[in-house]
Amino acid sequence: MGDTAPQTGELAVAGGEHIGALLGAVEERLQLEAVGYGEPLQQYGEATIAAGGKRLRPLLMLLCAGPPSSQEQSDALVRAAAAIELIHSATLVHDDVLDEADLRRGQPTIVALAGRTAAVATGDLLFAKAFALITQDGDPRTVELLSDACSALARGELLQRADGWNTQITRERYFERCELKTARLFEAACAIATNVTGQPTLQLAPFGRAIGIAFQLLDDMLDVSGPSERTGKQRGTDLLDGTVTLPLIIARASDPEIAAVDLRSLDSAAVAESLCDRIAKSGALEETRAAALQLVSEAKLGLPAELDDRRRRALEMVADNVVARYS
Ligand code: FPP
Ligand code: MG
Repeated sequence: MGDTAPQTGELAVAGGEHIGALLGAVEERLQLEAVGYGEPLQQYGEATIAAGGKRLRPLLMLLCAGPPSSQEQSDALVRAAAAIELIHSATLVHDDVLDEADLRRGQPTIVALAGRTAAVATGDLLFAKAFALITQDGDPRTVELLSDACSALARGELLQRADGWNTQITRERYFERCELKTARLFEAACAIATNVTGQPTLQLAPFGRAIGIAFQLLDDMLDVSGPSERTGKQRGTDLLDGTVTLPLIIARASDPEIAAVDLRSLDSAAVAESLCDRIAKSGALEETRAAALQLVSEAKLGLPAELDDRRRRALEMVADNVVARYS
């Protein structure tokens, strides 16, 4: 599955020559933003940026924008793309505090390395830098799009905490959480792109939203399927921290033994892994992936008619990438 995923390089080529150069500029900007705060914050900020990730949200933004028509527009796009990655990184650092996660992208998390206070401060730093960067454009609409997405992320995270340990939550509620905590940032990447480049009638935000939900479905599937050597995260983390996701919701409906499990009784990683195995046997992972594929297919079909062929093809590849990944 992951072996057939289009890589960021391939996607950049599909998007046009300008994409590689812009992604390089985003990377430089990210390195600059993470330094200059003295130890130990600088060390953690740099480590977070250096741990990489696919830079999927910046790539999505740059592809949605199309080739910039001026240096000014290009600079604004690079700042906005770096800002969205900084926000994403900040949320993951904070998320690992809340989830008490030890591993991310195959590396120890900041909270595991340095404790809660340092991890919260690192996330705060990255978050503040993102807004400092995006306000340089002087366009209040861009700032509003990013800040609305951040509010949604925080609301989604709060809903998830409110739903903690509650195995009765509905699919609707689960999808609402996915939209808030993940899809709204994808949506913002698309909407900011068309705002910065002055294409207000090009409606790409619904595409971003749909692939964002699909992304979260896959993420939740991978939490159950692992293996952690490929995902870079510990298997069963969601179950251990009481987060009820679609694989469990589906499996509970067909397997009474899974339905009877009280998540609070899972007292070790090994017990959580054996529940993961049982969920996998129920067919719930295939169903979760099928739901993600369906969303991706609808997202591709819903791309606006006025989109040029090159951008369409590249965005279709991004959508496919979201459901063909391991981490
Ligand atoms: C990862 O989910 C977490 C998110 C997508 C959002 C986290 C949001 C916050 C912590 C609140 C908002 C914070 C800011 C700075 C705006 P996951 O736990 O399902 O994914 P994982 O498996 O990668 O940990
Ligand atoms: Mg998490």
